[in-house]
Amino acid sequence: MSGLDNISLDERARAILRANDRGGFTLPTEGLYPYQWNWDSAFAGWGFASFDLDRAWQELESLFSGQWPNGMVPHILFRSDDPGYFPGPTVWGTQGIGPIPSSGISQPPVAATAIRAIWQADKAAGDARLRALLPGIKAWHRWFMDWRRTPEGAIFVTHPWEAGRDNTADWDSAMAMIEPAGVGDYTRRDTAHVNAEMRPTKADYDRYIWLVNRGRNMGWDEAEMAKDRPFAVADPTMTFILLRANRDLSHMLAAHGMDTAEVDGWTMRLEAGCAALRHPELGFFDAVNLRTGAHTGHLTSASFLCWYAGLDDARMRAAVTEGLASSSYPLPSLAVDSPHFDGMRYWRGPTWAMVNMMIGLGLADMGLAAEAELLRTRTGEMIAQHGFAEYFHPQTGEPAGGGTFTWTAAVWLAWASPNAGDM
Ligand code: GLC
Repeated sequence: MSGLDNISLDERARAILRANDRGGFTLPTEGLYPYQWNWDSAFAGWGFASFDLDRAWQELESLFSGQWPNGMVPHILFRSDDPGYFPGPTVWGTQGIGPIPSSGISQPPVAATAIRAIWQADKAAGDARLRALLPGIKAWHRWFMDWRRTPEGAIFVTHPWEAGRDNTADWDSAMAMIEPAGVGDYTRRDTAHVNAEMRPTKADYDRYIWLVNRGRNMGWDEAEMAKDRPFAVADPTMTFILLRANRDLSHMLAAHGMDTAEVDGWTMRLEAGCAALRHPELGFFDAVNLRTGAHTGHLTSASFLCWYAGLDDARMRAAVTEGLASSSYPLPSLAVDSPHFDGMRYWRGPTWAMVNMMIGLGLADMGLAAEAELLRTRTGEMIAQHGFAEYFHPQTGEPAGGGTFTWTAAVWLAWASPNAGDM
């Protein structure tokens, strides 16, 4: 790749962030996702930090402006009502609960880690902005510890969308236990924007909507919903990302002379919880269907977030070496030798750049420099050759889902570009 190509790709990535900017918050991509999404915003802020620190802070500030009184930061903030998206604000029915119409569930808490990266690039001017965000971050982490923690200390999800891995095989056994009676007729909008082969099935969608209807009927009252959970899966995405975010929160609190005891207590509980995510026979980290207690047995890209959480592990080292060699564009969201692997279908095979970034940062932090660099350069090549798509076929690199995607552009700027770090 010539220097000029790198420069023009950097410029294209910046142009995508600017084009998806709706004034203080960024859309994942126009059409398919016309609102502000939670972890998408964290990555957007990380990307903006490479060329516009003020705009980077704004992205995270606007995310936290939608925080609920109970500490939850919603997975979608509906800043308008766009008929091109389903299910929109009326289906979620959260009116009056939070400051902005929103969904009723959360998403992986990448925000504290992104905020730390922005603050480290902007310590002098950003200090006051960081201080203003710290109480909200802590309240959100507490919400996870109160409402999404298993007795062992792992974090579970109550809806497939909560982990941001909508149709991963990790949910299959839990989804099969739901009978989506009375879900009624509805019109999907996602398949009007992209090919249905790249999206979840109708059986999945019936259950997604059934779970949303149930939450709405309970007024999104966590205590009420906790009495009986039709869907609860302990999840490596949530557990590892919260553990990492919590370490970053502790670092930022300590740097401001604030007490870290409560947050460090959460870190210890989460570390203990990670052990519960280890498959007893296969040895790698996977998910657990809490309704049956059974491990799902799937090696997904979320399994490889252990280093991001600060946990090195011999079994996972062997698995990542194999995973890096298993496809041209690693790491697949489901192992390519799984009978459930489907290279174009969303979270059942495709490679996602932002998951790779978290895995790569974790590998680098833990001294696995060669693996980290291989993952970074392969991800960079994938984007350079196939564009800023939502996700990619791990064997062919074929771009899939939405195009001109915010987090793919942000990951390019923050990590995958040969110029990342110098911008
Ligand atoms: C899809 C993804 C989710 C993401 C959202 C917006 O639902 O599965 O992780 O946050 O799109 O990009």
